[in-house]
Amino acid sequence: MATSSKTAPEGAAAKKTAPAANGGKATSPGNVGHGAGSNAAVDIQPRLNQQQNAPAPTQLDGTVAQRLPIGLDEATRQESVTMLNQLLADTMTLRDMYKKHHWQVVGPTFYQLHLLYDKHYEEQAVLVDSIAERIQILGGVAVAMAHDVAELSSIPRVPRDREEAPVQVSRLLDAHQRILKNCHDYAEKADESGDDGTNDLVVSELVRTNEMQVWFVAEHVVDSPLTRAE
Ligand SMILES: [Fe+2]
Repeated sequence: MATSSKTAPEGAAAKKTAPAANGGKATSPGNVGHGAGSNAAVDIQPRLNQQQNAPAPTQLDGTVAQRLPIGLDEATRQESVTMLNQLLADTMTLRDMYKKHHWQVVGPTFYQLHLLYDKHYEEQAVLVDSIAERIQILGGVAVAMAHDVAELSSIPRVPRDREEAPVQVSRLLDAHQRILKNCHDYAEKADESGDDGTNDLVVSELVRTNEMQVWFVAEHVVDSPLTRAE
């Protein structure tokens, strides 16, 4: 049975191999080999540059689809998606702050902070994925690209310059606190709306991870004696 020509690439008809020149083998319009000397039944040429004539997006940013039957109404999903995208942008920013500081840290605590910052970077990366996937489950569109994250994030812009370790620590603690304040607010809202999954994500993963990281980072800026008690 002949297949539809719908799947044939542009110009495929001009390159079709006639049955007579193909050893009498039957060919179909959308199933012809095009490579040099190809006699394959399957066309192995990738369809390139399809973004240049892209059809409408599968979903517009800012909309919430009701695709998955998860027992939550549209208003609840919309509220949660908006909150989660804010947390996502801020968490991606904090994640990248950790990697920046991992690379640029200097001083006597270099080794400790270099390793600690990378550990926290990895943990924040896990949170980023959890938040983004929760947004998709709710029917939203997760913010993803750096330029969009920069526009949405509530964390003050971090300079490109290399900074002293105590300044790095202070910036990180401020970012954690901004995220944690939002977490407490959003967890309460998700609880009130009945979005238990979002409430659990925010409380069990975001709050607990951020609080733990605050502890480990903050202890580095206690001005305590190293060898002689004061
Ligand atoms: Fe590294």
